[in-house]
Amino acid sequence: MQGHPTPEKILQTGTAFWASKTLLSAVEMGVFTELARGPEKFEALRGRLGLHVRGARDFLDALVSLGFLAREGDSYGNTPETELFLDKNKPSYIGGILEMANHRLYPFWAHLTEALKTGAPQNEIKGGEAALFENLYADPDRLKEFLRSMTGISHGANMTIARVFPWKDYNTFVDVGTAQGDLATQIALANPHLRGTGFDLPQVAPIFEEYTKATGVAARVAFAPGDFFKEPIPKADVVLMGHILHDWDLPTKKMLIKKAFDTLPSGGAFVVYEAIIDDARRTNTFGLMMSLNMLIETPGGFDYTGADCAGWMKEAGFSSTRVEHLVGPDSMVVGIK
Ligand SMILES: C[S@@+](CC[C@H](N)C(=O)[O-])C[C@H]1O[C@@H](n2cnc3c(N)ncnc32)[C@H](O)[C@@H]1O
Repeated sequence: MQGHPTPEKILQTGTAFWASKTLLSAVEMGVFTELARGPEKFEALRGRLGLHVRGARDFLDALVSLGFLAREGDSYGNTPETELFLDKNKPSYIGGILEMANHRLYPFWAHLTEALKTGAPQNEIKGGEAALFENLYADPDRLKEFLRSMTGISHGANMTIARVFPWKDYNTFVDVGTAQGDLATQIALANPHLRGTGFDLPQVAPIFEEYTKATGVAARVAFAPGDFFKEPIPKADVVLMGHILHDWDLPTKKMLIKKAFDTLPSGGAFVVYEAIIDDARRTNTFGLMMSLNMLIETPGGFDYTGADCAGWMKEAGFSSTRVEHLVGPDSMVVGIK
């Protein structure tokens, strides 16, 4: 380190939850959706959002200072980013993940120390019997919030996979654990010659079908209900798994990789993507934190490096593998059978 040490970074990180919760509360109250109709003066905005006078000015100005609102005179408006990504009425809305972060992850992360000492999940399944997805899916509102949040966190990588993967060499794909179906949708939109399947638990069907209808790909992208613990993965030239392997312990990860291998034809491709940790485990902070999030959320899940995943793929029989960066913290690991 150059120069004298300063406490700045320590203090910034130690209080980073202030910034985080300020943004999450703004999303919760629909500040950016409200302002997508146009800039508003302070009193009108305060009234519309139902803010008490005491914190209102500090809250809105903190959002200005964080770069999420613009202020001119006494009027507040969205920035280009919040206008595009945090207005609930636009298809580019990514706030689903922030809504879930606000309702679920924020309170659960208060118990990180306990998770680190016990190795046990700290979410709804804490001390209970039901598994994560059974528990999430028992409540229709929570199910929808969870599936939409997946679109929010995955959309950028989904669009990149749709563009950079050599799709012209293939005709069919199956997205395993497809959630709302955004990956399947983006692939189909960018590659009109392809037909695809979204494979997920049966409860997901209506939410997937609503999304693929709305995005206009329903004629080429179908839903296949199933449980990957009990059934084989539907056959296709390319099998994709986004944010699936990190949910599970090592034996389950290997079982899923083997199922993908078994279903593919010779020459078929297996695409695994999520916040793949750098091999030196030093720089992809988001991937490392995502792995801590799996500690909080699941009994055995963890994130992993590209080298880890390539090794498991080789063990399952894939003849070649490669790791490619996608966008932000996300990379994909591709295995060819
Ligand atoms: C973390 S989400 C990932 C969603 C999406 N692939 C993405 O990257 O945004 C995990 C998905 O796996 C699905 N899933 C969980 N258990 C499953 C099972 N036993 N069989 C099939 N799908 C399952 C969930 O319903 C959920 O949609």
